[in-house]
Amino acid sequence: MSLEIKELFAEREAERYALHTRYLNEQMVRVLKTIGFDKRYQRGAGQYLYDPQGGRYLDLLSGWGVFAIGRNHPTVRDTLKAVLDSEFPNLVQMDVSALAGVLAERLLRYVPYLDKAFFTNSGTETVEAALKFARAATGRAGIVYCSHAFHGLSYGSLSLNGDQIFRSGFGPLLPECIEIPFDDLDALDRALASEKIAAFIVEPIQGKGVTVPGDDYLRGALDLCRKHGTLFIADEIQTGLGRTGRFLAIEHWNIEPDMVLLSKSLSGGQVPVGALLTRKWIFDKVFDRMDRAVVHGSTFAKNDLAMAAGLATLEVIESERLIENAAQTGARLLATFEKMAQHHELVKAVRGKGLMIGVEFGAPQSLTLKASWNLLETASSGLFCQLIVIPLLKDHKILTQVAGHANHTIKLLPPLIISDADCDWIERSFETVIADAHHVPGAIWTLGRTLVDNAIRARASG
Ligand SMILES: Cc1ncc(COP(=O)(O)O)c(C=O)c1O
Repeated sequence: MSLEIKELFAEREAERYALHTRYLNEQMVRVLKTIGFDKRYQRGAGQYLYDPQGGRYLDLLSGWGVFAIGRNHPTVRDTLKAVLDSEFPNLVQMDVSALAGVLAERLLRYVPYLDKAFFTNSGTETVEAALKFARAATGRAGIVYCSHAFHGLSYGSLSLNGDQIFRSGFGPLLPECIEIPFDDLDALDRALASEKIAAFIVEPIQGKGVTVPGDDYLRGALDLCRKHGTLFIADEIQTGLGRTGRFLAIEHWNIEPDMVLLSKSLSGGQVPVGALLTRKWIFDKVFDRMDRAVVHGSTFAKNDLAMAAGLATLEVIESERLIENAAQTGARLLATFEKMAQHHELVKAVRGKGLMIGVEFGAPQSLTLKASWNLLETASSGLFCQLIVIPLLKDHKILTQVAGHANHTIKLLPPLIISDADCDWIERSFETVIADAHHVPGAIWTLGRTLVDNAIRARASG
């Protein structure tokens, strides 16, 4: 007898918000209802989500970057079904997995200067492994990270989080973690000068705000790391696997880090997985004796479904030429948004590479617009962007969000499979909503008043 999961989903899906309010995160339900994101998606395929009425939505969030190859890709599904049907001897533990060996071999082909892979179950676990490996390899304790960084939310990775809202209330965090400004080589040089720093960890393009560093930054940072005996860790958990139009974002700057961290897209959107790719000498410092063969690891890491999902995902990325598609469609969208910035005063900047794009809004010059902007921003910093993302979803069926707390950047992180027709859809919708935002009074600013009232009411109720 099997659990009738399809029937269970159909019977209970309308209750999702009630169930979450009662048993899970009530605040999340309040957020979704407040901004009208409580949509009841019923099905996901490729870059689209479908509601019960068959309405089709274009997903520019990709589950925070998980669905590079789109949702429910047939190759990944068929591969996973085949694993289940094959009755492989999964997770024997006192044995080693063939599929893990093959996935390691396949991943390391993309980084010929690295030799070893270590698998985990998520992004944050990959970061935790990198921290332990860096300390073990160098015998040093310090870790340097950047302001506005996001590397995950478990204690090690949280200690490298450059955003107070995530840290506050959870201290004390890991000692000897030093924050420096992003894209500032002098600050890095000063931080490393103590010669006590095991590693410098950096997102090549920061997810929060989609911040792209200056062209010399990452190369300069690597040189400084070499000078001070510090390991360079590239957190490619969001930028990796083709997202920026190269397999790894660091390839734009042609650098060879000591560790590359992957997760998110490697899952095929189906089975959580993470991978740390590194040099043999670093790996050998961690696993240095037979009695330390399991000194770091996790029960479910290297499970067959995760390894198969990773292999199938790489197959799809290559056979469908998704890296090339990310580069091409990304360049098209960037050019369009840059044009929008020229004739819409609320658009301040457009940043990104490939299909990781940030559209930044900022205070306008004209007086009526400025007064309305100030009203919103006084109520809650970053609120303006909700005036864009709410109508994008409600009127244009485009799912997107801001790139972090109190942030004025809307982030586009679509599946790498998006087509020219999807780009038309994105461009048309953003143009309409952004143009509307320049009309005061208008529907968008009426929505703004409602959001300000909500923000004031929420503050009053604590
Ligand atoms: C760059 C980066 N590193 C690490 C993480 C943490 O990954 P996870 O949420 O799987 O723990 C994220 C997640 O957003 C990320 O963007």
